[in-house]
Amino acid sequence: MKIAHISDLHFGSLSRPVTEILMRHFDDDKPDLVVVSGDITQDATCSEFEEAKAFFDLLPMPVFCIPGNHDLPGMDLERFYDPWGRYRRFISQDLEPELRTDLVHLKGINTARRVLAHWNWANGSVSRRQCRDIRHAYADATAPWRVFVMHHPVMNASEMPLQVALFNRRRLLKCLDDTRVDIVLAGHQHHAYVENRLTGGHTTIFVNASTTTSLRLRRQPNGFNMLTFTDKAVRIDRLDLDGETFRIIEAVTHTKV
Ligand SMILES: [Fe+2]
Ligand SMILES: [Fe+2]
Repeated sequence: MKIAHISDLHFGSLSRPVTEILMRHFDDDKPDLVVVSGDITQDATCSEFEEAKAFFDLLPMPVFCIPGNHDLPGMDLERFYDPWGRYRRFISQDLEPELRTDLVHLKGINTARRVLAHWNWANGSVSRRQCRDIRHAYADATAPWRVFVMHHPVMNASEMPLQVALFNRRRLLKCLDDTRVDIVLAGHQHHAYVENRLTGGHTTIFVNASTTTSLRLRRQPNGFNMLTFTDKAVRIDRLDLDGETFRIIEAVTHTKV
């Protein structure tokens, strides 16, 4: 099973040529599923969401999508009285989807908040209720791979171009350890990396994606990740835009023991 992990599309501030290159890549490579780890739009306007929906509708494969901080209306009253109304209207009613396949059990959560006890509301948070949902989702998981999707990265890799605070980060890490999640897909920083965490004999792989289509680059070109699963192994390819093509620039394989 092949999953394309794209992120931070930022409709409203994206490169149309790059979006077309991405569509062509998917036509050739044919992922079974596309996972989008948030920041679908730039300013959460109706027209941006409409464009994003039109793009998703063009994809022949299912899309598993969660929101990011840019999918909240900015300086707009709607941010406070109906923060996710537009996302729900155009993208999905479900902000925290779950998908079970024979090989992969996916669960997503929404870490963006309309208000935070911090000067920077672009940061993220995880609630107790969300941790309970994660535990519940994976409690009876039978697929060999548990994949978790969120917008704000829980690991801060070195040389990050953007500092991120994820409130209740330790609570989430404990939850991911307890539920033996295999792979965490995230975005937000517009910076790709793969980092392993080994706890109690179990490896969790934290996979961040660059922005796939946005014009706001942070020291990396546009890019995305392609994950190919078999029963026992996953190969994670990181692809960067190189001229008119997305090319693999790094590949790691992890085998279950
Ligand atoms: Fe973003
Ligand atoms: Fe973001």
